[in-house]
Formats: sequence, structure tokens, C-alpha cells
Amino acid sequence: MRSTDSYFCIDDFVAGARRYLPRMMFDFAAGAVFDDVTFRRNRSAFQRYILKQRVLVDMSTRDIGIDLFGKRRDLPLIIAPTGPAGMVRYKGEVALARQAAATGIPFTLSSASSTPLEEVARDGGGDCWFQLYVSPDLPRSYEVVRRAETAGYEALVLTVDSNFGHARERDLKNGLTIPYGLNRRNAFDLLSHPGWLTTTVLPYLMRGGIPGFPNFATARDDQGNERFLKFPGFNWSHLDELRSAWPRKLILKGILTPEDARRAADAGADAIIVSNHGGNVFDAAPATLDALPTIVEAVGDRMTVIVDGGVRRGSDVVTAMALGADAVMIGRATLLALAAAGEPGVKCALDILRGEIDHTLAMIGQPELARVDDSIVSRAPA
Ligand SMILES: Cc1cc2nc3c(=O)[nH]c(=O)nc-3n(C[C@H](O)[C@H](O)[C@H](O)COP(=O)(O)O)c2cc1C
Repeated sequence: MRSTDSYFCIDDFVAGARRYLPRMMFDFAAGAVFDDVTFRRNRSAFQRYILKQRVLVDMSTRDIGIDLFGKRRDLPLIIAPTGPAGMVRYKGEVALARQAAATGIPFTLSSASSTPLEEVARDGGGDCWFQLYVSPDLPRSYEVVRRAETAGYEALVLTVDSNFGHARERDLKNGLTIPYGLNRRNAFDLLSHPGWLTTTVLPYLMRGGIPGFPNFATARDDQGNERFLKFPGFNWSHLDELRSAWPRKLILKGILTPEDARRAADAGADAIIVSNHGGNVFDAAPATLDALPTIVEAVGDRMTVIVDGGVRRGSDVVTAMALGADAVMIGRATLLALAAAGEPGVKCALDILRGEIDHTLAMIGQPELARVDDSIVSRAPA
């Protein structure tokens, strides 16, 4: 495993991940869908804002923690659910959960993870949230919800922007499909990444084989085969049942309009995540930072508003909070750090973000992150 000495900013992990992962895995973890327009829009939205610099304010003590759901967190971050974490590194989900716990922030486990949710909660420790993709076999989805409750997950994150399956062009080109299609090209890709084969794939092969999806409620297709099916009929009317089945915090992930945010609040959700899945589902979506202010205006006094998408710098985090976010989720930042340098990489990424958030706070002359508001942010002149 590479040391973390050569990583100074989040973007440095992209090159490290590219070296370690076969192309098919790298494209899946780092790329987005269609023409990557939404993915780029998320990033460029941050550059359209400037923060107000203040000088000669006593900044000898600074507090970059927040209160989230009545609990103190040492950083305003949450690690987002990313399905392939356990395939970019052996048991990568546990590494992410462990580092989130050590940093004092929540970790969200994906429904599509390779490690069973019980094992991640047990070995990761800390405050774990569980992300749910519902399958058309609702009773099975509820079984997974009950498992998450028994295992002690503190929040259920229902992803609402991905109920329609759509193959990603890059994955089709790279042969990354379910079931997996090995061909000459991707065989060469795999064989030219012996580090990944020996440190991620081999440990699985030695302990029972490549894992499937132990937390995904599969459903039967027309031919009676068990499949990883999405549920296009899932709608607001199903939320009552889910709300009554889950006694802890319920969070809807993938909200982009004030109308849907209000419906989420009416449905009894405790929080929403303003998210476009990191540009991974719909290439005509707005940047999440652009969607955030009107959503905060609509529901900010009724529920917690979290945002994700394109966060790579501490100043991005402070900008999102100045525009009204209560907390910020990060996906690729920690996923690519995990791929590049394993668990030490995740620690390094979180340390980098902590340092940058702290520096940003010092530069704007605000000793408490929780008190940052829109008076410190404005549009950059064209
Ligand atoms: C490779 C990858 C896999 C993802 N898997 C999931 C998932 O299983 N469930 C989910 O709700 N979101 C998933 N997401 C979306 C993230 O939770 C998050 O919304 C997104 O990564 C935020 O954007 P960022 O990567 O720019 O920080 C995934 C994102 C990536 C990049």
C-alpha cells in the first residue's frame, strides 16, 4: 500500500486511484453518466461563489464542529453511500466506517455494498447510517430495513433518484455488467493491475469468493430469476409504510426542488439530502449548490438539509453551509482516497478536508462554523 505522503489535496487521490484500480473499476468510481455534464456542473457551481475575507479578527480558537440530530459532530461531514467501496479495497466499507468513527462523523453504508451491514456496524463502530434502494419485492426491502434497525443503524437514507435502472455507457464498454462479462479486453485490464488483484480480489477469493450484494433486496424477474431490480412504481404513497416501519431518523436522498422537499417534510422525513447522485443518474440535473438555497428557504425551518455533489475542498464545505446546508456529504473524495491508499488514505482525505475547513474559517474571520450564514457568500463577478 502506498504511503499517504504524496497526497496533499483531494484531487491527488484521483491519480492514485487510477494507478491502483483496473480501468473498469476506476471509471465506475470516478466517472459519471452520459457526458458527465451534471458531474462537472456540481464542481463548477462552487467556483461561481466567493467568500468574504476578513482580517485582524482574533482567530486563535476555532470550532469546525456542528450539531446534527442533537449530537455533536467534530466536522460538518458525512461519508456518502458508494456501492463499490468493498470492491475498490477489500472490506472497504469497514475502513470507511472506522475512519468516520475516528473522525467523529457518520458513515452511510450503501444497499449495494459487498460487506454485510451487520459486519460493517460491528467492525466499523461509530454512527452508521444505512442507505436503502427499494426493490419491487417490498417485503424483502422491509426485511433489510429490519436488519439495519437490529444492527443499530441510526438513520435510514432512502435514495429517491434511482428507481429506474439505466446501464452506464462506460460500464457497458468496459464489460462491467451483472452478471460479469469477461472478455479479452477486460481480462487484460484486470491482469495489468496485479496490486488490486492480490490485495482486493484475492483476500475475497481466499475467504469464500467474490461477494455479491448481501444487503440488497433482490426481486424475481419475468422468468422467475432473482434479479437486482429497480422499482419504477415506487412513489410518495409508499412512504407512510416506510415511515411507520423505521423508528429512527428517516432521510430522503436525491431531492432537487422545493416542491419535493416540502413533500418529504409532509411525509415525515427528518432530513433531505439535496443530491443528484454525484452526476451518476441524470445528466440534465442542476448543480446541487444551485438547487440548495430555494430548498433551504422552503423547508430549512422544518427539517435538516444536507447537500452533496462535487465537494473537494474545505472552502466548498463552508460555501455550502453559508448557503444554508446543515451538513455536507462526500462521496468520491473518500472513495477515491480509499482506492488510492486504503484506510490510511481515508484518514488522510478527512485530515486534508479538516485542515482546509479550518483555514477557510480563519480567512473569513468566523470562529464558529455553526454561525456561518449567507452574509459571507456572494456570486463571483463574471
Ligand atoms: C461510484 C459511486 C457509487 C455510488 N453508489 C451509491 C449508492 O449505492 N447509493 C446512493 O444512494 N448513492 C450512491 N452514490 C452517490 C453518492 O452517495 C453521492 O451522492 C455522490 O457521490 C456525491 O457526489 P461526489 O462524489 O461528487 O461527492 C454513488 C456515487 C459514486 C461515485
